[in-house]
Amino acid sequence: MKFNTKVIHGGQHHDPSTGAVMPPVYQTSTFVQTSPGQPLNPDYEYSRAANPTRSALENALASIENGTRGLAFSSGLAATDCVLRSFKAGDEIIAMDDLYGGTYRMFTRIYANSGIKFHFVDMNDLAKFESLINENTKLVWVETPTNPLMKIADIAEIAKITKKHKILFAVDNTFATPYLQKPLDLGADIVMHSATKYLGGHSDVIAGALIVKDEELGSQLHFQQFATGATLGPMDSFLVLRGIKTLHLRVQRHCENGTKIAEFLLNHPKIEKVYYPGLPSHPYHEVAKKQMIGGFGGMVTFTFKSGKKEDAISFLEKVKVFTLAESLGGVESLANHPALMTHASIPEDKRKEIGITDDLVRLSVGVEDAEDLIEDLKQALL
Ligand SMILES: Cc1ncc(COP(=O)(O)O)c(C=O)c1O
Repeated sequence: MKFNTKVIHGGQHHDPSTGAVMPPVYQTSTFVQTSPGQPLNPDYEYSRAANPTRSALENALASIENGTRGLAFSSGLAATDCVLRSFKAGDEIIAMDDLYGGTYRMFTRIYANSGIKFHFVDMNDLAKFESLINENTKLVWVETPTNPLMKIADIAEIAKITKKHKILFAVDNTFATPYLQKPLDLGADIVMHSATKYLGGHSDVIAGALIVKDEELGSQLHFQQFATGATLGPMDSFLVLRGIKTLHLRVQRHCENGTKIAEFLLNHPKIEKVYYPGLPSHPYHEVAKKQMIGGFGGMVTFTFKSGKKEDAISFLEKVKVFTLAESLGGVESLANHPALMTHASIPEDKRKEIGITDDLVRLSVGVEDAEDLIEDLKQALL
């Protein structure tokens, strides 16, 4: 089955009891048993363990990422947390140096406190990355493209190293989506999503996902999820599943609009740098071209020639079609100031060190008419 068919039919079947084409929202906490320990349907006894609406979503997730098992969580961070729970004091984790602020916060303020050691490194320096591996290294965690600097990590090259050293390799595929990039096919062990973003696609749900190929790893992660409880509710599962059915159409338009906006900004006299992996000037454009098949997404980040925070704030106060708000990946265009909003939890010196400056603006380019978006940027940049 090809991807555009999988988003609609992958892992899906009509509802067995009614023939409903879309899975009903099974808004139930529990399921009848005919005798103690004998559920009527052996797959369902309590919704924290499994719920049919969530199962439909989880099957779709596994299908579109070319995995064998999908798990749906109450948020993207809950999905990340589920992976991290497998490790103990003394273990070491190597992560990309540019990460969503909340992921960085979880690593440094929750798990570092329980004795796990984190190394943050630019994964484009493969030699430096490999030199950090020792017998305690258990996990490599990468976002690509990264939030907000749009750095690219070469998934296939990193996977060669993690396989050699027998280390788990997880990729946060939120920005690319499986329409553009399939980390499991490139050698990663775990794909993570903030399904709040492109998978849901309509800014109406908070959700997370993990997808794996290895069935044993899938069972371990399901056990962690079941035992700790951050599962996605039936209504939210329904919304994400509905979103996935148009993922291919939406991401195509996000890519087209993203490219147009990046090119507009590149030629604007007030703009200094534009971070978009589709631009030939992007330092890792070739890697992006190799692993992002079909486009470069809808996320565009930029800085001002003046270098001034005030210019970024004035721009963000003036946008009209773009909405000033956190989050990304919905049909509507959003604008965000990472240093004051999504990445405020990263200490200022660390932000400066990696390039999240105070004049940096991140756009989530939606699926509106590109001309309207460009007109909006023009007037906000006056
Ligand atoms: C790349 C990335 N990963 C993970 C997350 C966390 O997801 P959630 O907000 O659904 O918990 C976000 C949220 O912005 C994100 O952008």
